[in-house]
Amino acid sequence: MTQAAPSANGALSFPPGFAWGAATAAYQIEGAANTDGRGLSIWDTFSRVPGKIRRGDTGDIACDSYHRYPEDVALMASLGLQCYRFSISWPRVQPGGSGPVNQKGLDFYKALLDELAGKAIDAAVTLYHWDLPQELQDNGGWGVRSTAERYADYALLLAEHLGDRVSRWITLNEPQVSADHGYRTGVHAPGVTDAAAAAAATHHLLLAHGLGAQALRSVRPSTPVGITLDMHPVRLAAGTQPDQVEAARLATDAELNALFLEPVLHGRYPEHVRAALLPPSDVIADGDLDTIRQPLDFLGVNYYSPVFLRAGDPDDLRRDEEPARCELPGVVEYWPADLERTPMGWLVDPEGLYDLLVQVSDAAPGLPLYITENGCAAEDYVDPYGAVNDVERVSYLHQHLDAAARAIKAGVNLAGYYVWSLLDNFEWGWGYQRRFGIVFVDFETQRRIPKASAQFYADVVRANAVPPYPDAVG
Ligand code: FCB
Repeated sequence: MTQAAPSANGALSFPPGFAWGAATAAYQIEGAANTDGRGLSIWDTFSRVPGKIRRGDTGDIACDSYHRYPEDVALMASLGLQCYRFSISWPRVQPGGSGPVNQKGLDFYKALLDELAGKAIDAAVTLYHWDLPQELQDNGGWGVRSTAERYADYALLLAEHLGDRVSRWITLNEPQVSADHGYRTGVHAPGVTDAAAAAAATHHLLLAHGLGAQALRSVRPSTPVGITLDMHPVRLAAGTQPDQVEAARLATDAELNALFLEPVLHGRYPEHVRAALLPPSDVIADGDLDTIRQPLDFLGVNYYSPVFLRAGDPDDLRRDEEPARCELPGVVEYWPADLERTPMGWLVDPEGLYDLLVQVSDAAPGLPLYITENGCAAEDYVDPYGAVNDVERVSYLHQHLDAAARAIKAGVNLAGYYVWSLLDNFEWGWGYQRRFGIVFVDFETQRRIPKASAQFYADVVRANAVPPYPDAVG
């Protein structure tokens, strides 16, 4: 592997062939919810439940990318992007989640893929980014095994109809969030709050990954297949003695990361995880863990922020502390005061990305890694000159790309980076209030305005290098 190296002007360069892209997801950008035979997804239903989404926003129109995709692809081309990670809306191509396909839905994705090919932009296609067909939810959703089997059928149909146009498949986006937010805390669709259902969903999502990978490869054996996990490095607050919190560190890492990574890599559930999170043995059929452990061509890592631990008393919390999710005594989660937070409340910690990449690379030596999402929300606005000067995002991207380049230098096999997101979009429970795009979207007019971060990112892509810090932000 070629290593990232500092250039004469101090820029940290990336290896030749490093893939630069942007990411989106169907429900967050497409809109056209009732167009051309699309079926209902759990997010259509959930976003109509009063109180679930800020201001009652829905993805009905979103960025209207279903109609405006040529403009969005042209935007990516103008920024010099080489690849685009987007997701397929399952209910758009198979409205009920099983049975007949919707030809018009497939035609939309064919046209999008052709548009990308026309601009020499590779497609990294996520099969499932949280928008389960409502009919499958009505039959139990991820709480039941049959959903994993329907997902395998869906994977097969995508490979058959779209496979000739796809460069890379990503089976699932962040199954940890699907299981936790969708079934345990209920803050995401389908809004279930049932720990047992969440534990079962964990297994069925993983099984779907394994069955789906097999289905994709049965049609297109040479197209790379991977999965995207949201990963959270578990870090210790300054001054914390590692042995004080070691059990908590292992348990938190197991819950957030290893619960999905270990089955996928090694066909086993991790040791240190709370019992309530582990799928019960009656949902794990013989052979399931072997099915889940399909060879991976790459691993997608989404990184936003870490979790910090320190010794403390969960029953007597100090400022910026919370009870530790692992529920062990003598330890709390903590937001260090010296780290910035984004408007999401998420800590800005580029060293967390560096540590995470090294950790994952140690866990899966040699496996190509992609950062399939990284970025931040910011309070973006169009200034009187018509520009969006998102200095916070430029700084965030700069620091994280710098960390990624250093991780490559330290031997991590990082093959590409996708910024989240190309466009401001429907940010789940936050609706349109949280802007993550490098391109501003005026949701009244659908006008797109590339932000300062888009220009910064285009410069990075062109140079295949991160500029020295003051140059980047000043
Ligand atoms: C990730 C999701 C993505 C987006 C970002 C901010 O967890 O995969 O859709 O919402 O967070």
